[in-house]
Amino acid sequence: MARLDVLETFHGILFPGHLHTQDSLQLALKFPFQDTDILIVSYPKSGTTWMQEIVTLISSKGDPHLSQTVPNWARAPWLEQHYSAAVLEASTITPRVITTHLPHHLLGPALQGSKAKVIYVSRNPKDVLVSFYHFHKMANFFPEPGSFQEFLNCFLEGTVPFGSWFDHVKGWTGQTATMNNLLHVTYEEMSLDLNGAIKRLGSFLECPLVEDMVNSCVKYCSFSSMKDNKMVNYTLIPEEILDQSKGSFMRKGKVGDWKNMFTEEQNQNFKSVYNSKMQDSAVKFVWEEQETEENAAP
Ligand code: A3P
Repeated sequence: MARLDVLETFHGILFPGHLHTQDSLQLALKFPFQDTDILIVSYPKSGTTWMQEIVTLISSKGDPHLSQTVPNWARAPWLEQHYSAAVLEASTITPRVITTHLPHHLLGPALQGSKAKVIYVSRNPKDVLVSFYHFHKMANFFPEPGSFQEFLNCFLEGTVPFGSWFDHVKGWTGQTATMNNLLHVTYEEMSLDLNGAIKRLGSFLECPLVEDMVNSCVKYCSFSSMKDNKMVNYTLIPEEILDQSKGSFMRKGKVGDWKNMFTEEQNQNFKSVYNSKMQDSAVKFVWEEQETEENAAP
């Protein structure tokens, strides 16, 4: 399945036709979750692959064998992609780890009443945008991103593939008060204190870890370790699909890289759209606090 120049529109959101079909998207909405499932949910470029690695390592008690022998898409398949049903059927990995980029308003009904553990990963949207822009340049299943300014406009309008970041983040994080099987983790907190984030995730997943196991998880899901791991750095994907001569999937792995890309005017414009779209958000995000502190600094 190449379909590199096909985009599927599903419930008003664009999905790359390379791995998504109308049928695969439709099937995802009716997925029969099991109570033992672990579901990783994110908007693209928020640290999805990182979380897949962390969850694999936690479930393996820090043993890197699985994470270094099975590609991430085979051990934590994307629910809405066409191959996931076959992968999940053939898999003997327990608990099942499933990934999705679907927004809550589409996937929420399938999760209703389920005890599956849901991990929502979010990241500063300015860093998401920069990472997504670079990814568009190398991923041949996305349309040409145009200039950074053009891409920024589409991101703010929610017309990029996978839809509006604002709707995605508000939709899922808005559930944290009522869904006690949902844990919200940010890319920023994983960057700042990976050890602490792994312990928190281990306890949420009811997978107790002793210190050595935590240390092993930290070691194998570090940026440098993952950059060298073929099972997660996407170098197994053919160049005509993902052209890593134009950049790496494991690009920088930094918090605040947006500062190297945004002009002051773009930042002001972004802020004003952000403030207006997020005013009804139930959650205060770590990057909002960071920005307030930076503005307060002399
Ligand atoms: P950058 O492009 O900013 O480097 P996703 O998996 O959701 O597509 O997200 C990809 C982003 O997560 C990329 O960001 C990638 O470098 C970053 N990433 C992946 N593994 C990471 C790790 N171990 N530590 C820090 N960042 C990581």
